[in-house]
Amino acid sequence: MSAVADAAHDRVLGVDVGTSGVGVVALDREGRAVARADHGVPLLTPQPGWTEQDPATWLAAAEAGLRDVVAEVGADRIAAIGLSGQMHGMVPLDADDQVVRPALLWNDQRTGDAVREIEAAIDRGRLIARTGNPAITGFQLPKVVWLRRNEPDAFRRTARVLLPKDYLGFHLTGEAVAEPADASGTGAYHLAAGAWDDEVLNALDLDVGLWPRLVRSDEVVGGLLASVAGRIGLPPGTPVVAGAGDNAAAATGLALGRAHPEVGSVSLGTSGVLFAALDAPTPEPEGRVHLFAHADGGFNLLGVTLAAGGSLRWYRDTFARDRGFDELMAVAADAPAGAGGVTYKPYLAGERTPHLRPDLRGSFHGLSLATTEGHVVRAVLEGVAFSLREALDVMAPLARPARWLATGGGAASDLWLGIVADALASPVARPIGPDGEVAEVGAAEGAAWLAWRAMDHAPARGPRAARWVEPDPARAEATAAAFARYRPLGI
Ligand code: XUL
Repeated sequence: MSAVADAAHDRVLGVDVGTSGVGVVALDREGRAVARADHGVPLLTPQPGWTEQDPATWLAAAEAGLRDVVAEVGADRIAAIGLSGQMHGMVPLDADDQVVRPALLWNDQRTGDAVREIEAAIDRGRLIARTGNPAITGFQLPKVVWLRRNEPDAFRRTARVLLPKDYLGFHLTGEAVAEPADASGTGAYHLAAGAWDDEVLNALDLDVGLWPRLVRSDEVVGGLLASVAGRIGLPPGTPVVAGAGDNAAAATGLALGRAHPEVGSVSLGTSGVLFAALDAPTPEPEGRVHLFAHADGGFNLLGVTLAAGGSLRWYRDTFARDRGFDELMAVAADAPAGAGGVTYKPYLAGERTPHLRPDLRGSFHGLSLATTEGHVVRAVLEGVAFSLREALDVMAPLARPARWLATGGGAASDLWLGIVADALASPVARPIGPDGEVAEVGAAEGAAWLAWRAMDHAPARGPRAARWVEPDPARAEATAAAFARYRPLGI
């Protein structure tokens, strides 16, 4: 199915199925966000280390957000809807397309045994060469293996597994698909072949038929079903575009990819993510940073630290309940680079890249009677930045962008931006929109851009930055000393 937007259809919608909520944005033809809605979704933590969501809550939040934005923008202007969402999750559906059990999420850590089972069945090097990554607890394939071993009845009833945004797409169109950017985060996708990996699935005695048909990221999946269309106020048949996993979608929103490998992105959300575009599916030989397909037909390396903004939030919730983030940033701004010798390791939720150790735990080192709160908060900000730097050092032989666009809540802080620029030893800047203003560019925007692309509207655009924050030479020595203290601690 393909479609071309006529002049009257001058808006597209992007939907992001996030972990804390579902965001919807409407973009005009230049990429200006003209309307937005956000609806929260509950997180379920039935046991320590387990994270789940009820997929029905995604659908309700997505429908509510679409309804809000459609009402604001006008249904007759909307050309298409693009999708994006948290990567790696598993939504198991039965033969009647009913959800078998709540979805297991990207940050769920229950699958250690399943990872070992996969690595016993397939040589680790071969898995990395084919799928770009070793078996990783957060990825979807270990979740399927976990389900088979731990909930055999649920597994027997499972007729297919979908990723979070693809489940939303299935709900909207009745078509079950996956696209490369998100499929490559399952652990069951052969990057060079662009297909589900039969060899890996056969070795695990899993039926490839559990996974849906693959389409391009900028391909129309189907038209909006009449039942859903009625509830959200759009015409039935409105094209729904496959989209991309949230990191690839956010990079698409920033115009990052194979056309601009010199610019990467650093996201300071709950987790922290470094994104660097790659032309070929060349994995880091030990799989210490992730390699995924990008939404532009190329590939990308991803460094992920699990508690970035999450570390600061934890600090605030635990030690500074009555204070806001701005206040904490002001306290930290008084502390010098190197945080008076205090080092923080941000492993509150274990660590992904480059250590791939769900069992690691966070810590403070170097406290003394002279330590102030400013030192401690600054150490938190530096620790997150150093964790990203460790990922960068591992990526660098394959891809080392010269500059980084910073997104996510943490990027609003000048202090943190400066600390990240120091740690990465590269300029960092917030992105700007078509009017030259600092713009929020996230996964929903990227999903909307993929919808434009599917409608044959692809204006030339490149990464656009506000003021570049350069690493400060006056802090270089203290930063290097602090990083040297950070590296060997607590691993
Ligand atoms: C990437 C990852 C996270 C999720 C968050 O590998 O696990 O960035 O995509 O939504």
